[in-house]
Amino acid sequence: MCGIFAYLNFLNVKDRRKIIDILINGLARLEYRGYDSAGLAVDGDESTDILLFKQVGKVAALKKLVSEQNVDFEKEFVNHCAMAHTRWATHGQPSMTNSHPQRSDPKNEFTVVHNGIITNYKELKTLLENKGYRFESDTDTEVVAKFAKYLYDTRDPNKDLSFTALVKDVVKKLEGAFALIFKSIHYPQEMVATRRGSPLLVGVKTEKKLKVDFVDVEFSTEEKIPEPVNSSGGLLAPPTDGVPKLRHSQSRTFLSEDGLPQPIEYFLASDPSAVVEHTKRVLYLEDDDIAHIGEGELHIHRLRSDEGKSGSAVRSIQTLELELAKIMKGSFDHFMQKEIFEQPESVVNTMRGRVNFDAHKVTLGGLKAYLATIRRCRRIVFCACGTSYHSCVATRAIFEELTEIPVSVELASDFLDRKTPIFRDDVCVFVSQSGETADTILALRYCLERGALCLGITNTVGSTISRETHCGVHINAGPEIGVASTKAYTSQFIALVMMAIQLSEDRTSMTQRRNDIIDELKKLPEYIKQVLSIDNELKQLAKNDLNKEKSLLIMGRGFQNATCLEGALKIKEVSYMHSEGILAGELKHGPLALIDSDMPVILIMTKDSLYPKVQSALQQVTARKGKPIIICNEGDDGIEVHYEKIRVPQTVDCLQGILTIIPLQLLSYHLAVLRGIDVDFPRNLAKSVTVE
Ligand code: F6R
Repeated sequence: MCGIFAYLNFLNVKDRRKIIDILINGLARLEYRGYDSAGLAVDGDESTDILLFKQVGKVAALKKLVSEQNVDFEKEFVNHCAMAHTRWATHGQPSMTNSHPQRSDPKNEFTVVHNGIITNYKELKTLLENKGYRFESDTDTEVVAKFAKYLYDTRDPNKDLSFTALVKDVVKKLEGAFALIFKSIHYPQEMVATRRGSPLLVGVKTEKKLKVDFVDVEFSTEEKIPEPVNSSGGLLAPPTDGVPKLRHSQSRTFLSEDGLPQPIEYFLASDPSAVVEHTKRVLYLEDDDIAHIGEGELHIHRLRSDEGKSGSAVRSIQTLELELAKIMKGSFDHFMQKEIFEQPESVVNTMRGRVNFDAHKVTLGGLKAYLATIRRCRRIVFCACGTSYHSCVATRAIFEELTEIPVSVELASDFLDRKTPIFRDDVCVFVSQSGETADTILALRYCLERGALCLGITNTVGSTISRETHCGVHINAGPEIGVASTKAYTSQFIALVMMAIQLSEDRTSMTQRRNDIIDELKKLPEYIKQVLSIDNELKQLAKNDLNKEKSLLIMGRGFQNATCLEGALKIKEVSYMHSEGILAGELKHGPLALIDSDMPVILIMTKDSLYPKVQSALQQVTARKGKPIIICNEGDDGIEVHYEKIRVPQTVDCLQGILTIIPLQLLSYHLAVLRGIDVDFPRNLAKSVTVE
């Protein structure tokens, strides 16, 4: 799980320093995907010379290293192509040799950057070693670079071997998940990129209007504008309606309207945040696409054009809506903090255009055509990982209550390990902020194979999950950069509640319940602002009561169960303090043994039907000399004064979890800052987990 980035210009930006700046900035935007080491490859003084720079640690360390090199930065090139990588270690420890770009040999004949895992790399490595190739790293990626060199060295000398054909032959031998970019001294000023299972997009920047021709696959010939932020669902539909399509057999290039070469720059990146400051025109590559860029032109081929297509037949150039300002930190110290404070706005964006508060109606356009099928299903299976999984736990009860359809909640990895039985009349809902989480994607493909209707709930337009599901809902929370998920959680939560409301609209017995929830959805942004206003108190609590502690138990029950699990995950991942979410009903079955006067406890005690039962949990804890901090509702005077309290506004039971998680997000943030931890980049983690 890494970030890859490449840049090519034709008759435009020439000097090397500027090119290195573009690479370093692009990498910095992708750093959340992994930050064990970083590296880049740029053209050397001769066009058949490649310079490699690598450094352990973050992109800033690479930047420093490059600036200290004895390189002629002012040197100009006619064209230029360069690639870069920020790594989250999978095969081999973080080290210089394991950093990317990986190379075929000391002359850097072929250099490769890679995101993903090549599962058959050991066999390929053995094959190459038997042919005399010597390996310098522990990575799976090095076999790709060496295999390219092997195919080049053994080519038929009487025939031209194009870079594209060479890469096709390499990729045919690879198993696993990958996004790969290739550069070679044998093909100067060309670059080839491909993907299978890992995300990759091409950004195109040019002053002139584009004329687009393609081969192998059909493309829409007009630029497709993705749904506006307030639209309702439907992000998954391919752009077929109204867009003329062509199937060409020859040229597939970007040309100016007059057919002449034009100043043009290309960017390849794992996600749009790295290209949006340069261009908003992007094309998402699909599995087994082979994109070749050379002589100012972009050519897209299929890996096996003669064997039919496995990917979608239609592509489009999309115009990104992402504003760079949105992915910057603004006045906040960290992305996590910014994203926590964005929640009054992000929840509105999730509901915008979908909830009619006056008519008490929810319309998720992306689900409309499937409502009848979903209502008829035998059960609904929620499937996700980490925080996204917790959003499913949080909403399962209201889903079952409103729809009367049994709902099971699955951790994607465990779901696959168990080879869970799935049937054609099941509906499977895949929840993922990134839309690229490998476990969730594999679970999705497993369910697709078994004929279930598959829905996606994602925050990322164009992501694998949004493309491969039959239909779905885009949560519109805006880019989430901090590794710890915060605003995506509350938006996923709301998206799932909205879905339950829409699905149950034919059940009149639930009208009052639905209306109550919709009324409270309207008030949520104000409530969230009230919770955020106690930030200073929470900072003091973190400093005075919790910072010195080694462990923290978070307890609650019913609708607060998910808050306990999610709060504990936030605390451990950013502050490295051990924390555990405990279902209060389970206390007496074991965890009570942990309680004494020294064990820090947070107890969630909001006013809902389970309040009396949580009161008895409080008694169980205090009887063992525990001194819990209590998260309770404003105006609840029933709790003895001597307890430390965190007060949140009271809302309807099934939405209360949105207001109880925010103090825990803030507490975890302050604990991390107090402990001097790099909040946005907690150790050993990455934002988008694209490996199993
Ligand atoms: C925790 C966190 C992770 C993700 C998980 C799934 O703060 O962010 O637990 O929730 O890796 O990621 P997505 O939602 O992108 O599928």
